[in-house]
Amino acid sequence: MSNLVAVIMAAGKGTRMKSKLPKVMHSLAGKTLIEHVLDIVGRAGVDRSLVIVGHGREGVEALIENRAEIIVQTEQLGTGHAVLQAMPYLEGEQTVLVLSGDQPLLKSETLNELVKLHQAQGASATVLTSYMEQPFGYGRIIKKGENLVRIVEEKDAAPDEREIKEINTGTYCFKGSALRDALTKITTQNAQGEYYLTEIFDVLLKHEKKVLTYRTVNPQEALGINSRGQLAEAEGIVRKNILEHWMSEGVTIVDPASTFIDAEVILAQDVTILPFTRLVGKTKIEEDSVIGPQTNLENCTVGRGSEVTCSVARDAVIGECCHIGPFSYLRPGTKLDARVKVGDFVEIKNSWVEMGAKIPHLSYIGDTHVGKSANIGAGTITCNYDGVNKHHTKIGDHAFIGSNTNLVAPLEVGEYAVTGAGSTITKNVPAKALVVERSQQVVKENWHCEKIK
Ligand code: UD1
Ligand code: CA
Repeated sequence: MSNLVAVIMAAGKGTRMKSKLPKVMHSLAGKTLIEHVLDIVGRAGVDRSLVIVGHGREGVEALIENRAEIIVQTEQLGTGHAVLQAMPYLEGEQTVLVLSGDQPLLKSETLNELVKLHQAQGASATVLTSYMEQPFGYGRIIKKGENLVRIVEEKDAAPDEREIKEINTGTYCFKGSALRDALTKITTQNAQGEYYLTEIFDVLLKHEKKVLTYRTVNPQEALGINSRGQLAEAEGIVRKNILEHWMSEGVTIVDPASTFIDAEVILAQDVTILPFTRLVGKTKIEEDSVIGPQTNLENCTVGRGSEVTCSVARDAVIGECCHIGPFSYLRPGTKLDARVKVGDFVEIKNSWVEMGAKIPHLSYIGDTHVGKSANIGAGTITCNYDGVNKHHTKIGDHAFIGSNTNLVAPLEVGEYAVTGAGSTITKNVPAKALVVERSQQVVKENWHCEKIK
């Protein structure tokens, strides 16, 4: 039997977001809100997680995969109704943590403290609260002395109640049996005509159950994402935390104000990030690499001691001691081995470039294998697409491709082969051969004078 169960409410539409996407599918630092919350409860060591889904459930379920059990709330009748859907799947003796899928800044440590207090005191319910300078929109905690009297929603609150700055974070700990009993007794008699989860505190207190509050010291943790403004506010907080974390781990971030690093990025010691740089998704940078300025890397790996300057890369692997940029564009499936140089206005897609090869200027390399130490002259293009299919090009080790060569795929250029500048190569080139494909230069003397006559 599992003892600590998390129930995460994620069935709402998130009307205030004004979006096609269900609210919990919006991204914060490269990870959706629901994934943030699943990570938080995972770190808090819960034995089981249940997620209540409803609006846009297919998308939400795909994100959850098998990290939690899914429970469907077909009609979104309020937070109390949402938690009610989980009751058939819970046992009375369990401790139940209830959370919202729109609260991605909670700390696992805070959840642990909440559960500890709740269990040590033998409470029926414990509410996580916080002080907020601007409590607008949150449920207010009404107390008599230190004791909770009730929770009142913004829309139901009297003017003096709206002055209260202690708010309901929407995170609670319950004794399973007390939660079950109280949930059956809530009504829809409120400003929104919904089953409010918060009404169960009225029920519990009426039955003289022990109800506690536990206040977090950090109000940022309580930030609920109901609007795009709150999403941006959370992004700012998470971003600052991520930057501070990496700086404390020995990463130089020259200008934090213009640096954006997603939650799942991994950086090694002595990496330097120059201004106006974004590291997105599951990007990983090894020691001593210098990234930026003005660089955007998404799901990329960069080996030790490489430089990536003013460039864009996605789903690419960059080896050790590579020089990328300025103005390179590496697309999915690009794999660069150690000491590769990719220069200005070079686009590479679905290609493997072996150690020491150079593609310094103005090239398109697609569906290609470039051998070790090959040199690709300025303006070289692999013609990989015939309008229907993509074809492969192989360039051997140490091959020297002259400037402005068109390599029409499928094609193989042997090792140590040389292509003359300006050639359009359509047939395989043997190893060590020189191939030239262009018409002979014609010179007509005094051409200009003759025309004038
Ligand atoms: C709720 C609390 C409020 C608290 C605030 C903290 C209630 C009545 N109010 O208000 O006291 O201060 O959170 O952020 O609980 N959901 C469902 N099914 C539904 C309705 C909602 O799954 O039928 C989910 C939503 O997807 C969301 C969560 O429950 O993840 C909270 O709902 P939301 O509408 O955001 O509640 P708030 O108005 O923020
Ligand atoms: Ca909310």
